[in-house]
Amino acid sequence: MRVVRIRAPGGLENLVLVERDQPEPKQGELLVRIRANSLNFHDDMVVRGKIPCRDGRVPMTDGAGEVVAVGESVDGFKIGDAVVSVFWPYWCGGEMTSDIKRDIPGETIDGYACDYVCKPAHFFTRAPADYMHLEAATLPCAGVTAWRGLVTCGGIKPGDTVLTLGSGGVSLFALQFAKAAGAYVIATSSSEDKLEKLQRLGANDVINYNAIPDWGRKAKELTQGRGVDHVIEVGGQNTLAQSITACRTGGHIAVIGFLAGIAAEISIPSLFSKQIRISGISIGSRADQEDMIRAIEVNKINPVIDRSFSLSQIGDAFNHYSIQKNFGKVCLDI
Ligand SMILES: NC(=O)c1ccc[n+]([C@@H]2O[C@H](COP(=O)([O-])OP(=O)(O)OC[C@H]3O[C@@H](n4cnc5c(N)ncnc54)[C@H](OP(=O)(O)O)[C@@H]3O)[C@@H](O)[C@H]2O)c1
Repeated sequence: MRVVRIRAPGGLENLVLVERDQPEPKQGELLVRIRANSLNFHDDMVVRGKIPCRDGRVPMTDGAGEVVAVGESVDGFKIGDAVVSVFWPYWCGGEMTSDIKRDIPGETIDGYACDYVCKPAHFFTRAPADYMHLEAATLPCAGVTAWRGLVTCGGIKPGDTVLTLGSGGVSLFALQFAKAAGAYVIATSSSEDKLEKLQRLGANDVINYNAIPDWGRKAKELTQGRGVDHVIEVGGQNTLAQSITACRTGGHIAVIGFLAGIAAEISIPSLFSKQIRISGISIGSRADQEDMIRAIEVNKINPVIDRSFSLSQIGDAFNHYSIQKNFGKVCLDI
């Protein structure tokens, strides 16, 4: 079987495709034929060596495929089931605690850039019915993060207004989940072409954040001055102040990413005077993923996929991803 490994110190030139023996499932494990991965910002940092990992690590946190063998004492899965990995394999549900915050596939343990894996059964959930493996592979990181930010922590309800930042993987899922929840969506992007695509996906209003640098005020204006109920904050340093401006008194900001820098300077009174609720999001639990999958099935939500590459083209896939011209997830078809 084929497997991609990251040779130290990382970098796309240090991704190697090698052969190894196919593993066999031990007690409690599934053998899964991996059919697809999707790329995330986190994977990009790992393969480029910005997040250091052990020499020989198998990259990719998101994996989807079918069960081809089941070890002893496994309940809930059978041969032929379509499954998808979870980001935090030891976080079953409830609140995150430090003892279960461990073992990130594709970073601190081997991930899914390979033909077959053997992992404990709780490393997977079922995939949505009727999903292609490529679609399922978009869910564990970007999908679950958007779900937890809006639903688990945000408590979104019909009639709420959601502000999404940029057209990355998390933001597109947030847009789709918000529309399914009956919310009004204001979406931003740096590209006029992507703004049109965001509208076709259901965004009620769009803002070009390059053309309108005070897009936070613009978003607030679009709510007749009330402010938005939820912000999916993926920017960080250069966006948080605008997100606070956009947010209504008593609104919710899901702090998720740092596409625009890590260290933000913010006005403390702007937070407490508006009684803004801030949730730090770190993907989500297995229960979040299962809840999200039920919602996807009931609401017939399909992820936006930009394009896919083969396993041997993994370096090209990351090059394509990093220039940010994609609209939708970039995937590996294995
Ligand atoms: N905390 C968590 O649990 C968690 C989980 C997943 C991701 N993240 C983080 O969340 C962020 C987004 O992840 P992702 O997977 O959605 O990334 P992604 O797919 O790589 O997003 C890329 C897009 O982000 C937009 N963008 C870039 N700079 C921006 C800026 N200054 N303002 C607004 N939008 C900007 C661009 O959209 P346009 O081209 O439309 O302008 C770009 O195409 C990353 O920092 C990632 O590390 C965190």
